[in-house]
Amino acid sequence: MQAEALVERSNQSPKFPTSDSPASNLPSLQRQAPDGPRPRPALLMCAPKVYEVSYVINPWMEGNLGHSSRQRALRQWRNLYHALSSMAQICLVEPRAGLPDMVFTANAGLARDGLVALSSFAYRERQGEEPLFRRWFQEAGYTVIDTPRETPFEGEGDALFSADGMRLWAGYGFRTAPSSHAALERIWSVEVVGLHLVDPRFYHLDTCFAPLEDGSLLYVPAAFDQASLRKIEAFYPAEKRIAVSERDGLAFACNAVNLGRRIVLNRISAELEEELRRRGFEVTQIELDEFLKAGGAAKCLVLKLTPSLHCGSNADDPMQAELLEV
Ligand code: ARG
Repeated sequence: MQAEALVERSNQSPKFPTSDSPASNLPSLQRQAPDGPRPRPALLMCAPKVYEVSYVINPWMEGNLGHSSRQRALRQWRNLYHALSSMAQICLVEPRAGLPDMVFTANAGLARDGLVALSSFAYRERQGEEPLFRRWFQEAGYTVIDTPRETPFEGEGDALFSADGMRLWAGYGFRTAPSSHAALERIWSVEVVGLHLVDPRFYHLDTCFAPLEDGSLLYVPAAFDQASLRKIEAFYPAEKRIAVSERDGLAFACNAVNLGRRIVLNRISAELEEELRRRGFEVTQIELDEFLKAGGAAKCLVLKLTPSLHCGSNADDPMQAELLEV
């Protein structure tokens, strides 16, 4: 199928707002001058207003059915929101009752250069999120590209660009089908390299693999098959690879949000924190154990948006203002 055939025709407002676009609080894409200063990054998040563990689609959820605390989840999520909002513009998508995993916006799709490859979730439990994310991206001015139901694709949860943006690492084995990779290659004219995930606890690529902006990599080697490890080692020389211990891996240390020199993640060991500091990173640890019960942590709760968006001023937005109340 040609990428063009995948582009959803929509009669939405122009992709890039012009000076006569109606003023509104809706997010809108901003063109980035090729040589201009780097725009402030923008991230999509979804408050855990309806978050709970009410079904099991990964091993983390087993034994946690009905055992999450929404109050605690909200507190932890707010801490993450605050830490990230000092580095990035945060855009919010409104959650919908009955879709408790919508808080994990990394799975909404993969967004880059005004295009978004919208996810086709592997499990029915999450498929109801698709139209809601679609609407958000359309209103933000993205060109939405559908990925076929027959080839599940779970967005940035399973697809991560290398720091130079030239390569897309794409996980498969549990959620995303390797047959979805060809479409990604066509959409962004980028080299897509498949990585086979073999440990069900690390069922999405972003649970065990984090390309950092300085060109290094945080990863859990045991989460991959041998052929994938060889691909990783061929790309990242030994001094660029930070293999995390099983303990840190299971604390979702690789599920890290990295913006410039800053890294925001769940609680990790003192050794790993020291290693990241030694490499020049500023590390912010935020307790996110309520989300681990559903199999997610910092990076799963965030989707990177490029180019940067205007989401309206946080203070003017009633939804954001209400959420930020302590
Ligand atoms: N319960 C969710 C699921 O199984 C967690 C998603 C975590 N997201 C991620 N990007 N790893 O789909």
